[in-house]
Amino acid sequence: MRVAVASDHGGYKLKEKVKEYLESRDIDVIDLGTNSEESVDYPEYGRACAKAVAGGEADRGIVCCGTGIGISIAANKVSGIRCGLCTNVEMAKLTRQHNDANMLAMGGRIIDDETALAITEAFIDTEFEGGRHQRRIDKIEEA
Ligand code: RB5
Repeated sequence: MRVAVASDHGGYKLKEKVKEYLESRDIDVIDLGTNSEESVDYPEYGRACAKAVAGGEADRGIVCCGTGIGISIAANKVSGIRCGLCTNVEMAKLTRQHNDANMLAMGGRIIDDETALAITEAFIDTEFEGGRHQRRIDKIEEA
């Protein structure tokens, strides 16, 4: 699996932790920035990561900003992206099982590192359940 990661300044430290965790599992990581805590605009990073996933360069994407909200909104503007904003492991499991989320968003100012890495693990390891959930995803794509 290849995972693209990106963040703004508010999610930078968390993005680095996520990247370290993924690499510890021998998962290929594409890091699309940002590369410091200097202020940047989250839509650019959310869009870049979403385009990497939608274009097939990465299988999944993980984005972080201060809350996870702005960067998830930006990512979800890209066709074919289903980015779930998660604050706990249950949400991460469900966004994979029910929404077949291909991107995860988290807030570096909202959750602690331990929770974020447990969410990341669930996002990577949980399979989509298909069935009735596929019908609903098809309806999202119709919109
Ligand atoms: C940046 O200060 C902050 O607005 C951003 O990281 C994010 O929380 C937006 O949703």
